Amino acid sequence: MLLDGQQTNALQDYLRRRGWLDTEEVVSSVEKPGEGNMNYTLRVTTPLRTLIIKQSRAYVEKYPTIPAPADRAVIEGRFYKKAQAVPMLANYMPQLLGTDEENNILILEDLGKSSDYTFLYQPGQLFDEEDAQTLTAYLSELHHQFTTETPEPALANHQMRALNYEHIFNYPFLAENGVDLNAVQPGLQELAIPYKSDAHLRKVVNRLGAHYLANGKTLLHGDYYPGSWLKTATGAKVIDPEFCFYGPAEFDLGVMMAHLLLAQQPSSVLALVKANYEQPDGFDETLRQQFTGVEIMRRLIGLAQLPLSLSLEQKQSLLKEAHAMLQ
Ligand SMILES: Nc1ncnc2c1ncn2[C@@H]1O[C@H](COP(=O)(O)OP(=O)(O)OP(=O)(O)O)[C@@H](O)[C@H]1O
Ligand SMILES: [Mg+2]
Repeated sequence: MLLDGQQTNALQDYLRRRGWLDTEEVVSSVEKPGEGNMNYTLRVTTPLRTLIIKQSRAYVEKYPTIPAPADRAVIEGRFYKKAQAVPMLANYMPQLLGTDEENNILILEDLGKSSDYTFLYQPGQLFDEEDAQTLTAYLSELHHQFTTETPEPALANHQMRALNYEHIFNYPFLAENGVDLNAVQPGLQELAIPYKSDAHLRKVVNRLGAHYLANGKTLLHGDYYPGSWLKTATGAKVIDPEFCFYGPAEFDLGVMMAHLLLAQQPSSVLALVKANYEQPDGFDETLRQQFTGVEIMRRLIGLAQLPLSLSLEQKQSLLKEAHAMLQ
């Protein structure tokens, strides 16, 4: 069954049948709660409540010709189930209200009309110190609560990792990958050339990619960037763990720090995150830095572009900085 926000009656029947609405409860409106690319997400309003309903399909919602693992919402639901058993983590995520595994659907608590943190990419936007602290504390807690020698295969998320692997560690570094970077910003293609023909860089990135694909022992959010953080009336919250897996803790923190650099945050914000993050045993700062470097590069010269407002010179300087992290 494919959800359809236009078919209010069918949606109402479905939600009643599953027991997520009362038998007489009427769907009064349906809307898109915010921007998303991967999945079909709706906010459903009734006189009694509002709910978020999220369905994953066998393709990327915004680009239906691109296949994607259909059951990713089910895996996302498993993460929510685990995380919400820990009060501190539950406090910073929407509650999972239901899962329909057959149809790859999640029902989530509505955190209210709120924006994500992608506004940080706009000039002059400063990451609130309290939010930075909250989101770092969340990551520390996640990594500490769920480090194990026996990770659950149900959260290995191999297919989503394989998809992300291509976008992070492969496509950006191919000479011909079908992306016209000059259409993103004139001159960007030329900036990327040296990094696509650097054999040493390729070797380092391949090694990092292998690390990403190898099974680790820490449960990661897997997509810990401003698009997965919501600024709500009750503070910063974390959503969208569809790329979760058991892997290296350095990956989550590395990605977070990469986005603070892409968002031109002052070094004091980065220092705060670094100082507040409680490193799990064996944490490798060099590996963290390498993941930061590769994330910066792939966001600048890969397919998954961000709503950045950087000049070509700023991108060049970030690429150099990222390259230095990948030695
Ligand atoms: N529980 C929630 N409460 C309030 N708003 C939400 C909630 N879940 C999602 N949203 C809104 O819907 C948007 C899309 O949700 P989400 O990021 O989970 O979808 P997605 O398709 O996986 O996105 P992406 O393509 O960025 O991975 C969010 O940016 C947010 O604005
Ligand atoms: Mg998503």
